[in-house]
This record gives sequence, structure tokens and C-alpha cells, in this order.
Amino acid sequence: MALRSTDGKDDGPRHVAIIMDGNGRWATQRGRPRLFGHQAGARRVREIVEACPDLGVDYLTVFAFSTENWKRTQSEVAGLMSLFRRYITREGKSLKANDVCVRFIGDRVRLDKKLVSMMDELEALTANCQTVNLTIAINYGGRDEVARATKRLARDVADGKLDPDAVDEETLPKYLDTCVLPDPDLVIRTSGEARISNFLLWQSAYSEYEFIDTLWPDFTAEEFRSVVGGFGTRERRFGAVVA
Ligand code: IPE
Ligand code: IPE
Ligand code: MG
Repeated sequence: MALRSTDGKDDGPRHVAIIMDGNGRWATQRGRPRLFGHQAGARRVREIVEACPDLGVDYLTVFAFSTENWKRTQSEVAGLMSLFRRYITREGKSLKANDVCVRFIGDRVRLDKKLVSMMDELEALTANCQTVNLTIAINYGGRDEVARATKRLARDVADGKLDPDAVDEETLPKYLDTCVLPDPDLVIRTSGEARISNFLLWQSAYSEYEFIDTLWPDFTAEEFRSVVGGFGTRERRFGAVVA
């Protein structure tokens, strides 16, 4: 199946990245525990993924757990990890059936072995899917990613596989977790916070940003379509003067 729909959506963002924020506040507003908000948030992902093909969005990357989120209570962290396992079990077959290629970014070393093997299996199951590329960031931090990439790069230099004088801005991204992905064109953050929180630092150098007030569990495909639709009106200059 073709990656891009052919209905004139070529001005739209090819890669959309989302900081799915606001689950905790959504639950608190309802007098419920924070995990209730995370569960509602996880259910939202499906309709956003399903909206991508018609919008010409080939790549969707979602921030699920940051390297800083370990600072939360042990029970919230454990609840989130168990939610990721349940998400993979529950959604795996339908992602494959919808031709969604799933990848995970972030440092797997600190994740529980069972979760990591489920992540590996879902990546293998969907490796040949092409309609949408869904990347899920778990234990992901932009600084941590650059540090891990630099470590690998330094090893290649030490092993004589890479000439330090040949290192340029095309070299480093080959070592990032996102090496097979294009840079995001549009980064959306829900919940009204206007900050990056360590998401895709290198990759979003020229991304457009949309900070919207909606809390993630209330973010609908309709709102997604409207935010993506607004992207076409932006003028991206990449540092040049546009006549
Ligand atoms: C985003 O929602 C999900 C994660 C960071 C895991 P939050 O849990 O940060 O929700 P708020 O920001 O506290 O409302
Ligand atoms: C960013 O949200 C991380 C995720 C959405 C997974 P946070 O809620 O952790 O970010 P801060 O703490 O408000 O910056
Ligand atoms: Mg938050």
C-alpha cells in the first residue's frame, strides 16, 4: 500500500510527533487516581494512528515515558510499565492488521525484560508494515539519546571505523535511536505546557510546534485533523529569506 495518500495532502506534515501530556490532571479533575488518566490516554492513541493515512502523515511518534518520569512514585511508574505491556498485548494484532510499522525509541536497559521482549516481538511482527510508521518513546530523553549515540560514535572512532575529521551533522543522527526516521515536521504538545521536556532535541531543530490546551485523554481525531490541517498555512524558512 502507498505510504502517502494521493488526495492533494502534500503540504501536510509527513512526520508528526506528539508529547501526550495531561493524563494526571485529567484524572485528578475527575477525582480519580492518576493511573486512570494514563489508561484513558493509552486508549486515545488508536484513533490518532488511524487518522494518519488520510492526512498524509506517514510517521507518528508519541512520547509515552521520559527518562525523567522515573522520578514519579513507584506505584505510578509500575502502573505505567504494566500499561505498556497491556497496550502491546491488546493493540498488537490490530496494529499489524492496519499495516502499522511499530518501533520503540529510548534506552531499553532500564526497562523490565518482559516488556523489552514484548517490544522486540511487536517490532518484528510489524516490521514489513508500511501504511503508518508508529514510533513509541519509552524511557526516552533527548539528552540521553545524544549521549548514547556519542558513546557508540566514540567506539567506532576508537575501533578505527570512523575518522573523527569526517564527523559532521549528517554523521551523528546515524547513531540516534531515530536513525531510520525523517525529522518531525510538526510537534504537538497537549495540556497547555509550552516546553519540550527533553523530547527529540536534535531532530526537532526545525520542527513547527503546536501547544494546545486539551488534556491528552480528551484529544480526538477531529482535533488532530484540525491541528495537522493548520500546518499547511505555516511558512517554513529553514533560515533562508523567502521571497
Ligand atoms: C503524560 O501525562 C504522561 C506521562 C508523562 C507518562 P502526565 O502524567 O504528565 O499528566 P500531568 O501533566 O500530570 O497532567
Ligand atoms: C513529558 O511530560 C513526557 C511525556 C509526555 C511522556 P511530563 O509531564 O513528564 O513533562 P514535565 O515534567 O511537565 O516537563
Ligand atoms: Mg505532565
